[in-house]
Amino acid sequence: MSLSIGIDIGTSSAKAVVVNRQGDVVFKVGPTYNFKTPHPLWAESDPEDWWKATLHCLEEISKACDPASIEAIGLTGQMHGLVLLDAAGRVLRPCIMWNDQRTSAECAALTQRVGAQEVLRITGNPVLTGFTAPKILWVQKNEPEVWARVDKILLPKDFIRYRLSGVFATDVSDASGMSLLDVGARNWSQTMLAACGVKPSMLGKVHESPDVTGTLNAELAKRFGFRADVKIVAGAGDQAAGAVGSGVVKQGLVACSLGTSGVVFAQADQFEPEPEGRLHAFCAAVPGKWHYMGVQLSCAGSYQWFGDRLGFGADFRVLDAEAEKVGAGAEGLLFLPYLTGERMPHPDPLARGGWIGLTIRHGRGHMARAVLEGVTFGLREGMEMIRKLGVPIEKVIVAGGGARSPLWRQILADNFESSIVTVNASEGGAFGAAILAMVGAGWYPGVEAACGALIRETGETLPGPNTAAYNRLFPVYKGLYPALKESFAALS
Ligand code: XUL
Repeated sequence: MSLSIGIDIGTSSAKAVVVNRQGDVVFKVGPTYNFKTPHPLWAESDPEDWWKATLHCLEEISKACDPASIEAIGLTGQMHGLVLLDAAGRVLRPCIMWNDQRTSAECAALTQRVGAQEVLRITGNPVLTGFTAPKILWVQKNEPEVWARVDKILLPKDFIRYRLSGVFATDVSDASGMSLLDVGARNWSQTMLAACGVKPSMLGKVHESPDVTGTLNAELAKRFGFRADVKIVAGAGDQAAGAVGSGVVKQGLVACSLGTSGVVFAQADQFEPEPEGRLHAFCAAVPGKWHYMGVQLSCAGSYQWFGDRLGFGADFRVLDAEAEKVGAGAEGLLFLPYLTGERMPHPDPLARGGWIGLTIRHGRGHMARAVLEGVTFGLREGMEMIRKLGVPIEKVIVAGGGARSPLWRQILADNFESSIVTVNASEGGAFGAAILAMVGAGWYPGVEAACGALIRETGETLPGPNTAAYNRLFPVYKGLYPALKESFAALS
């Protein structure tokens, strides 16, 4: 038997899945760790915790599966994190993570240095606080003694690659979130490197996601009983790997992830940044392709918050039953999902949530329905931008906890005016990384062929008669944020 492993270095846990040639997940393991918020706006994680978690995964896999069957390991993980190593490969400070917000001043400085239009043209995105480059500027300014010792700059999963194989490398999709990559050219941008004072030798070689970047080091292979030639495959950032894991690997397909945060993700053949940079434009895990992505911060998180606060518990079905008693549009009640600020389409940490349009007739069913409709309207704003870029949308593949709700799938179909499809794969990025490893190991000729063989549609929801009602309400929803923006700022 041949097996591949996908390892996902997440925000608060690692996850490893072991997959056979037929795509069955034969084993999985998910050790947890913590990240710290030592100051307001900061989020830091110890890369050694990720490494311990990775070793734990390999140990458990070697006990549960035949270790000699493992042929390849693919990597994925949280994007944008800054890991700094000295010349001896030692970690110099905790990783500054994707959800760290300390770098507003550095974003402004870097944007001014390069020019906002030039940054967008080269990197496909504005410089955002969560991205890697402004964190480098922050360390240079605030911790010069650390910066003086920096030999290598790595993303989280690439630190694990270094420990597994001794190789410094990354992949195009993850590197896209650093504000250092020329996303159109799929390689480092000399302009951005120079503007950040980063020497090319500090960054690893950039690979396409299914490339083999090295082999497992001999000591680890021996320790876990793995073969000496286990391939370590480049892999992808968590969203790009998640798209592979649900089969969103060609233009026309869109992934919609309904997790704590919500994501709309469209695969594209061309690189053309959204004119205002409100959608991320990144390299895809499919060689030579790109993707557009909009991230909504409180998606299923809003529904969960509402359920918790009203004492409905964590089971979505209870809330769905309430919401289902109410008609589309919740009798003129709208919900704004900005419970933790927002990233797309309004990059605004001060934005706040709320219901607008309450009357004495409204009850908890209306409020529940308005929450589902409000987060869906937010995602619809992302879909609208994707359509404006000329990217075709044939079907939308849903994933994440919220995808289990038939009511929510119907609201999505009615709003996106597109077929909403569920698939047989539910292990997200880790599964996508395992597929990339299979392609790297030569089991399939490419990512599309692998997904074609391994991922099947399990259900479809088509737009229904509520589309017209939502088309009337959506412009009202869109008008609310601009009208309330100043009030949100004043409340904060
Ligand atoms: C992507 C993003 C998140 C993080 C953490 O831009 O910020 O997906 O990678 O999961």
